[in-house]
Amino acid sequence: MSEKRNKLVPAGELQRQQAFAEQVKELMLLRTRNPVPLAHVHTYGCQGNVADGERIKGMLAQMGFEFTEESKEADLILYNTCAIREHAEDRVFGNVGALKHIKERHPATILGLCGCMMQQPQVAERIRKSFPYVSLVFGTHVVHQLPELLYRLLTCERRVFELPDSDGVVAEGLPVRRDGELKAWLPIMYGCNNFCSYCIVPYVRGRERSRTMEAIVAEAKEIIAAGYKEITLLGQNVNSYGKDLPEPVSFAQLLRTIDALPGDFKIRFMTSHPKDATKELIDVIAESRKVSHHLHLPVQSGSNRILKAMNRHYTREQYLDLVAYAKKRIPDLSLTSDIIVGFPGETREDFEETLSLIKEVGYTSLFTFIFSPREGTPAAKMDDPIEAKEKSAWFSQLLKVQEEIAAKRSASMVGQVVEVLCEEEGKNGLLTGRTDGNIIIEFTGSPEQIGRTVNVKVTRARNWILVGEAIDEETKL
Ligand code: SAH
Ligand code: SF4
Ligand code: F3S
Repeated sequence: MSEKRNKLVPAGELQRQQAFAEQVKELMLLRTRNPVPLAHVHTYGCQGNVADGERIKGMLAQMGFEFTEESKEADLILYNTCAIREHAEDRVFGNVGALKHIKERHPATILGLCGCMMQQPQVAERIRKSFPYVSLVFGTHVVHQLPELLYRLLTCERRVFELPDSDGVVAEGLPVRRDGELKAWLPIMYGCNNFCSYCIVPYVRGRERSRTMEAIVAEAKEIIAAGYKEITLLGQNVNSYGKDLPEPVSFAQLLRTIDALPGDFKIRFMTSHPKDATKELIDVIAESRKVSHHLHLPVQSGSNRILKAMNRHYTREQYLDLVAYAKKRIPDLSLTSDIIVGFPGETREDFEETLSLIKEVGYTSLFTFIFSPREGTPAAKMDDPIEAKEKSAWFSQLLKVQEEIAAKRSASMVGQVVEVLCEEEGKNGLLTGRTDGNIIIEFTGSPEQIGRTVNVKVTRARNWILVGEAIDEETKL
């Protein structure tokens, strides 16, 4: 069967890349105006893209690069882009335009673009024509070939565009340079098969492909050994994890396996598509020791008519049924969601149904978006009679309703003792972190608590942010 074919990048290919990496290292030493070559890598978009960025940085580190936040001093500036909404793309085009003067001042600077935007032919074409000073452009399916692409650029080609439109592969064994020290991203699968009618992801990321359980567990062990306190498992639809493997496994099995690993860490995951989220998954969360009581379950709309037009394959009733089961099974569960306002053909009545759904569920927080037509998706061709002004008004109303829900929920937590992974000290001198349910909390405590899980008593609610005080020593799982 075609989906079961092996999509692993062969070990020989990775060795070949390793050899290019050695060559690039020497060439860059000759080229740099700094004591060591410096790279500025900026990632836009979702955590999946951030995880790609961490592998890109891992490879660049192998090629002798160090990293800088200052694009002006970098020998290589690379933007890892996102195509999810027009606004995301406009930001990238704006920032690329601003790079021109850096190139003029330091002509040896390499300007590169990669990520989801580049997988759209019309975008790659625009870069080719309108941004001649961008010399390295590569897509989401060839990230592991970065050493070879840089080698070509440094030796014989003026511009390198590598944008194959394949179903995608899985590259194991790439070096990773993680951004944080407490929270780690762990991709368990790539791509998406769902083709929600508004969404560009399946076109720019290819079909679903899972990493093997062994590869994921091995990376989880590395993360735990390096002292991380939180692992977030990533996929566009984690509930379909493992279905494409030669010996299929379920996401529930994977969660159980990681939950059983020894160590002091928490597990989160995203994203769960409601059509594939099962009661078994809820049971695993309820019975696990380390999985957070937080479920990101994007509903997108509360109207069955719109859900159908979105090609989401669940109804409002099925969604609410799953939520009811989850709340019964895990009383302190924190639910979050994504909502699209102003999908083509959405009426005031449809929107009202979304409002009533969010009130019924009582989400901790929402990610809300106004529909943005994406070239090549079915929704971009649908009739869209509602005016932008009206969509904005609905959007504001949605935010207001959600603010009230979140404020009520936060207020109900005053007096409770919650477990918090303490992340840093804020400017106001308070410590900050997130509760198990992923709510931001600021609290009094001592800086030694940074990096630990602490018990915090909630003393006050400030809209969706909680305020509290640490009440005792570190808690162990
Ligand atoms: N795989 C995830 C979502 C990834 S994209 C899922 O299925 O839930 C993150 C969010 O961006 C989506 O949930 C959706 O709410 C939003 N989004 C995607 N395409 C969009 C578009 N064309 N316009 C507006 N919002 C969009
Ligand atoms: Fe996009 Fe739908 Fe896939 Fe999520 S499940 S990435 S919204 S197509
Ligand atoms: Fe954006 Fe690509 Fe993620 S389009 S949301 S970076 S998968």
